[in-house]
Amino acid sequence: KIYPVILSGGSGTRLWPLSRSALPKQLLPLVGANTMLQETVLRVNEWSEVMPPLIVCGNDHRFMVAEQLRQIGVTPTAILLEPEGRNTAPAVGVAAAYLQGIAPDAVMLVLPADHVIADGASFEQAVRIATQAAAQGSLVTFGIVPTGPETGYGYIRRGKVAADSDRAFKVDRFVEKPDLETARQFVDSGEYSWNSGIFVFTAAAYLEELRRLRPEIAACCEKAIAEAYKDMTFCRLHELSYAGCPSDSIDYAVMEHTDHAVVVLADIGWSDVGSWSALAAVQDADENGNVIRGDVYAEDVSGSLIRAESRFVAVLGLDDVVVVETKDAVLITHKDQVQRVKNVVEHLKGSE
Ligand code: GDD
Ligand code: MG
Repeated sequence: KIYPVILSGGSGTRLWPLSRSALPKQLLPLVGANTMLQETVLRVNEWSEVMPPLIVCGNDHRFMVAEQLRQIGVTPTAILLEPEGRNTAPAVGVAAAYLQGIAPDAVMLVLPADHVIADGASFEQAVRIATQAAAQGSLVTFGIVPTGPETGYGYIRRGKVAADSDRAFKVDRFVEKPDLETARQFVDSGEYSWNSGIFVFTAAAYLEELRRLRPEIAACCEKAIAEAYKDMTFCRLHELSYAGCPSDSIDYAVMEHTDHAVVVLADIGWSDVGSWSALAAVQDADENGNVIRGDVYAEDVSGSLIRAESRFVAVLGLDDVVVVETKDAVLITHKDQVQRVKNVVEHLKGSE
């Protein structure tokens, strides 16, 4: 049985001003009518052998998450509540510890709640291949063909073909977030894929590697589950154990060091919607190449993303711009400057 484990703890700062820590991007309907969390749940919900999802999210978001699941008619296996975020190694660790208690041979399909996957059928095929490798004890990740030397991703070098599929390879090397020069070499070599951030492994295999590589994280996760407080809807992680857990990502803590990693190459229309330009790229544009949402008038505008949430917005004679209007903040920038949006969030944090 496959348990989707949905990571919904990030704050999505690069999509400011729409995405805020109180209402991060995964809880917003950024692409279609459903929120990204709802899309993520629905993407896998109907597959055979798939159990109801396990959600891992911050305590502050619990009512929004529960309500969004209710809206799509999904009763989760559990909603694990973190008193504070500790990054993805612990978030996956508590999910693994929880599943060990209810389904010891459970296969986990770890899904970030904020990704777009355009080709659901190819994704399902890739997950089936991954599940076979995971059943042998591998920690499986999905490899995406890189389109440029992005430094915000993990890079995976393919090794020997693994097992029965010509799309599954032993991971020869996993490098999380290399510097630009290194990323360039990786992309030019043609030997590397981007790490999608989606993983498949058994709860037992992940916990075993976590115990070996980062025993203090594993111990905190197991204690946070053993001492958790469960009610009808939520499973509140034991606060002291989880708050005392070291913060690290699964990529740095486990994937860079394990010898059991396998990569399944996946051509699935993947995007992590990591910026306003990435969001524009996954949406259908009009005949001028614009993606427009809300009450907008645009004249002599092309290649732009314009989003009006609460007021009327007019844009005249501009190309390749991003304009995002919300009730209390407005962003205006050039499409190739969107990575700087995180500076605004830093600035606002500093002035709090
Ligand atoms: N529950 C929970 N708690 N979820 C979290 C936490 C946490 O403390 N921190 C992050 N997440 C969620 C985010 O919401 C996101 O869905 C996912 O976990 C990954 O975290 P990011 O912070 O977005 O990671 P990243 O984008 O820097 O890097 C990862 O994803 C890339 C692809 O998008 C890595 O796996 C890279 O190797 C990968 O290339
Ligand atoms: Mg991300």
